[in-house]
Amino acid sequence: AENPLKDLFGRHHTYLRISLTERCNLRCQYCMPEAGVKLSPNEQILTTEEVIYLARLFVNEGVTKVRLTGGEPTVRRDLVSIIVAITTNGLTLTRQLVALQRAGLDILNISLDTLKSDKYEFITRRKGWERAMMGIDLALQLGYDPVKVNCVVMKGFNDDEIIDFVKFTQDRNVDVRFIEYMPFTGNKWEFNKLIAYKDMVATIKKEFPDFYPLENGPNDTSKAWKVPNYKGQIGFITSMSEHFCGSCNRLRITADGNLKVCLFGNTEVSLRDAIRSGCSEDDLIALINAAVKRKRKQHAEFFKVPYTSPVANLYPHLFNTNM
Ligand code: GTP
Ligand code: 5AD
Ligand code: SF4
Repeated sequence: AENPLKDLFGRHHTYLRISLTERCNLRCQYCMPEAGVKLSPNEQILTTEEVIYLARLFVNEGVTKVRLTGGEPTVRRDLVSIIVAITTNGLTLTRQLVALQRAGLDILNISLDTLKSDKYEFITRRKGWERAMMGIDLALQLGYDPVKVNCVVMKGFNDDEIIDFVKFTQDRNVDVRFIEYMPFTGNKWEFNKLIAYKDMVATIKKEFPDFYPLENGPNDTSKAWKVPNYKGQIGFITSMSEHFCGSCNRLRITADGNLKVCLFGNTEVSLRDAIRSGCSEDDLIALINAAVKRKRKQHAEFFKVPYTSPVANLYPHLFNTNM
């Protein structure tokens, strides 16, 4: 479309993330409480038709990339009919990936925070490491190029595995992305569990002196690096130490149909309610654009605090069910 959703800072929003469900089949300590999150009643969750309708509407307005997230998107049984690209924990891929690929899934990000099954069981409060690994292997066999592996780095939990994760890219077409641990209310974040980008790079350079940075795309969340002659590459998602709000092209729709213009922001407007009350397509587009125009330059509460000061309590009260 000619007029990509544009905000007051000139940012065009070409990337839409839709959360399909609030549910997850894991309970990662940094993400969800043991008891799970409070689930919206089923009738408040977007139907498949509504998801497709909204995706199409945003595409007409200039969105060129749609990613499905959750919760865990593959726990939604009607997933196959709407897939484009997903971020998944990988557990159901051995069962579903062939069908997902046939349905047109072409980008696959898999979360894996540890290469050790006992640690996996600790962090996720569930078994599943072997299945997640099989999911990665299968994705590689089926030609996903590359398979992105998301690894949230937490001091005292998996920071001793950074080098092992780098070695994981030696013979695999895998892009391991180390993510700085972000605070969301209830996720056990502590300042001293955060490991900053620069420190991770230093750790890797000690072992691999030739580790070098690559060029990045204009809207990439991750900074790409590589060990010479390794098949895969490494990325760093530096939300805490070097945020990338200036090039943000993302909008989000939560599983219950709210539009969010920032990961750290509040919900802006219920697209579900607008659709269900018979709102016209033009009115919906106006509603969306009005919310986009209210998007801030960067998330104020989050970024006014230098990441070097331990101020966990100042962070906004948000729950992390709509990454
Ligand atoms: P690509 O589309 O492959 O670039 O993936 P992605 O990095 O956008 O998405 P993914 O779902 O794999 O998310 C990986 C990590 O990126 C998440 O843990 C977040 O930490 C971070 N992330 C994704 N989107 C945003 C965003 O809009 N803002 C911030 N601050 N972080 C984000
Ligand atoms: N900080 C950083 N990354 C997180 N993720 C979930 N919670 C956090 C957090 N607090 C990651 C997941 C998944 C991606 C969508 O977000 O591990 O890979
Ligand atoms: Fe975009 Fe908000 Fe993430 Fe910044 S914090 S990159 S504005 S979603």
